[in-house]
Amino acid sequence: MKQIFYGFLTLLTGVWISACSTAEKPDAGEQRVFRITHADSSGRMLSEIWTGHKLESLDSLQVRGISSEYFDKAMHTQDSRFMAVSFSRLLQEFKLKRGEDAVLLNCFDDYQGILSLNDIHRYDLRLATRIKLASLTAKPGWLNPLLVLVPDGKHPPFQERFLTANIRELKFVRLNDYYAPLKKNTESSSKSQEGLEIFKNNCLFCHSLKGVGGNKGVLLIEAYGFSNDAGRKKFLMDFKNFHHKDNADKQDVEQFVTDEKLQRIMDYLLQAQDGT
Ligand code: HEC
Repeated sequence: MKQIFYGFLTLLTGVWISACSTAEKPDAGEQRVFRITHADSSGRMLSEIWTGHKLESLDSLQVRGISSEYFDKAMHTQDSRFMAVSFSRLLQEFKLKRGEDAVLLNCFDDYQGILSLNDIHRYDLRLATRIKLASLTAKPGWLNPLLVLVPDGKHPPFQERFLTANIRELKFVRLNDYYAPLKKNTESSSKSQEGLEIFKNNCLFCHSLKGVGGNKGVLLIEAYGFSNDAGRKKFLMDFKNFHHKDNADKQDVEQFVTDEKLQRIMDYLLQAQDGT
């Protein structure tokens, strides 16, 4: 493993892009501290402190230098390189006894990702401990390890969750428990149920709702009215004005959703407003 690692470093003539600022040591990614939170056999929650260095030092996690077409497509970059470990191998280090079927990804920038254990195995997802972009100017502030990566050759649906970065905590949870507060009052309409699924897969990571999700963006149900045309138009316009492909902070969410999907999201948010 050491040979692979040093071989990879000498391949690179550029500088490692790492946490927070370019003034930091180039390999700061491996020193970043994060937590892994899980229940012990008696159900007590335990939080362990880990570092990228610890991940890289475990032979069993298959540390590798890799690329990711999936990442480059979403970020509008080319030839990005990563040091990454196998996420499913990391899962094997933990005994899950309480029906946990997902990992919640709490991030330094109030982003909250979530991945099912199924997806982690099916797409052989990796966790990057270091990130190297070909162009230094393209790096947004949030693009730091740990980063979820889709390895080349795997093709999950094109979604935000497979690009979660800046991770400060991995926490084992049950999907049903996590999403439960969002399901209230959506049984009646299939349109708003569809909207809930789209919202969960594209927006909840940053726009929390009913106490679930991240807080990078505003609380959308408080900021907009969805029962009339004017309110819906304003929502669409503000969305497109912010989440387009030239977004300065690389939050191009528009690439993941069609206008039709945005309509379903609004159907759901209207119902969520009524239900509060
Ligand atoms: C990566 C995080 C992130 C994701 C994912 C995300 N947003 Fe945002 N969103 C933001 C941030 C940050 C802003 C700008 C700050 C603000 O005003 O909330 C914003 C702004 C907006 C605005 C404009 C708000 C305003 O005050 O101008 C709308 C509307 C919006 N987002 C809707 C959505 C919808 C709908 C989705 C899902 C399809 C989504 N966002 C996904 C982070 C995100």
